[in-house]
Amino acid sequence: MSRLIVISNRVSAPKGRSPAGAQGGLAVALGAMLREYRGLWFGWSGEKTDHFTGQINMHREDGITTATIDLEEQDVDEYYNGYANRTLWPLFHYRIDLAEYDRSFGSGYERVNHRFAETVAPLIEPDDLVWVHDYHLIPLATQLRQAGLKNRIGFFLHIPWPPRRLLVSLPFHERLVRSMLDYDLIGFQNEEWLDSFRDYVRYELGGTIEEDGTIIVGKRKVKAGCFPIGVDFEEFTEAVKSEETQQAYHRLLKSAEGKSVIVGVDRLDYSKGLEERFWGYRRFLEEHPDYHRHVLLLQVAPPSRGEVHTYEAIRERLDELSGRINGGFAEVDWVPIRYVNRGYNRAELAGFYRASDVGLITPLRDGMNLVAKEYVAAQDPEDPGVLILSRFAGAATQLRDALLVNPYSKDEISDAIRQALDMPLDERKRRWQSMYDSVEKEDVVWWRQNFVQALKGVEKRANLTIAS
Ligand code: ADP
Ligand code: F6P
Repeated sequence: MSRLIVISNRVSAPKGRSPAGAQGGLAVALGAMLREYRGLWFGWSGEKTDHFTGQINMHREDGITTATIDLEEQDVDEYYNGYANRTLWPLFHYRIDLAEYDRSFGSGYERVNHRFAETVAPLIEPDDLVWVHDYHLIPLATQLRQAGLKNRIGFFLHIPWPPRRLLVSLPFHERLVRSMLDYDLIGFQNEEWLDSFRDYVRYELGGTIEEDGTIIVGKRKVKAGCFPIGVDFEEFTEAVKSEETQQAYHRLLKSAEGKSVIVGVDRLDYSKGLEERFWGYRRFLEEHPDYHRHVLLLQVAPPSRGEVHTYEAIRERLDELSGRINGGFAEVDWVPIRYVNRGYNRAELAGFYRASDVGLITPLRDGMNLVAKEYVAAQDPEDPGVLILSRFAGAATQLRDALLVNPYSKDEISDAIRQALDMPLDERKRRWQSMYDSVEKEDVVWWRQNFVQALKGVEKRANLTIAS
């Protein structure tokens, strides 16, 4: 059996070593996968070093072998905080107003991709499958090919792919997209992002799309497809039975004192629509005074990417907004928003989800959103909560029985909260059951198998013409 070499910017630390909630969907999903596969997971340790040495720190724990490297401060600034999170992240989430372009970011991004390639290439054997993840490492295949690798190399984008008309605002966009043609398989979360990618290939690169989905640009052939990521269903539903989940569940229920609980769980990121969500909840409170003292919003949002100023700014605005809403509506014995800036482990989160009547997940744009799926997986079948989900989250294409809302509309959020709180039990059960079936069937194992099968199915590079 071929080994699987997973390469991503962030490598999940073994259990108990990383702050809860700080890792996001990618790390959670990959950890599950690597436990099943022989192989290793390569990436940045999250640590800084004075001078880059390329020294690899190998670690084996909990069935996973990780190989990590430290990066220089300048690398972290230009590559991670810079090009990845100040340029690509906002642009790929349709926020060209927030995207920053700086020559040093682009060269830092190239440099770190080169460093990744040089360091990992000697660890890769000829029959290994290589799976690269996310926007931090788009040009990695090009660098690996230059290092002589002929292996099958796949790429999965965890975030949206922007429409062509937005992408062309990126300086050197063509160079970035052309570098993707060095992969053998490119995966997106849903049809919308795949379509946008194909649209770019057709109109900017003059490429063609074959009936089986193969993309052809000059002498290059690449497969591109849709592979929506899922949750580690088995592990998550096991967690729901744990003592820790029970404690978290009772803790929240007890403290709610009979009020209906609406829960939101997100990294503190402007793409998650937290500000708009608070405004929507405020509209609900304005429109429905009968619900005052009978409802509370628990928003868990651990800080993320704190060195990037747009993240500092959203944090400040949310502190202020939650304070204003609480100040305006609270009573001596009722606070409408519990805004918590810390992470919890997944067993605790499962308890909070289960104790909540409504899951309010309203990103402005999101590749998938695993929290929405976790919320569904954690519900009590006899008394399930209602999921309110942004129609702009990748998950909305699978979770059609959520109450789908436009996250920019205060009115839609307010109406959906009202509808969710008033929903009769039989409708709650019907909606939940269909979402649960999809979350169970299309889980992380299904995702991984589909992608790896598709990657195994592509012809090896040795037999293909590779343009210079
Ligand atoms: P993203 O990858 O953008 O952070 P996802 O919703 O796809 O968004 O994945 C987030 C993952 O991180 C989920 O598995 C979720 O359980 C975890 N997570 C998110 N927010 C928190 C939090 N506040 N505390 C603990 N875990 C969190
Ligand atoms: O899922 C999208 C993603 O950007 C992942 O690549 C990443 O690991 C996660 O969100 C959390 O972000 P970060 O690694 O920057 O903390």
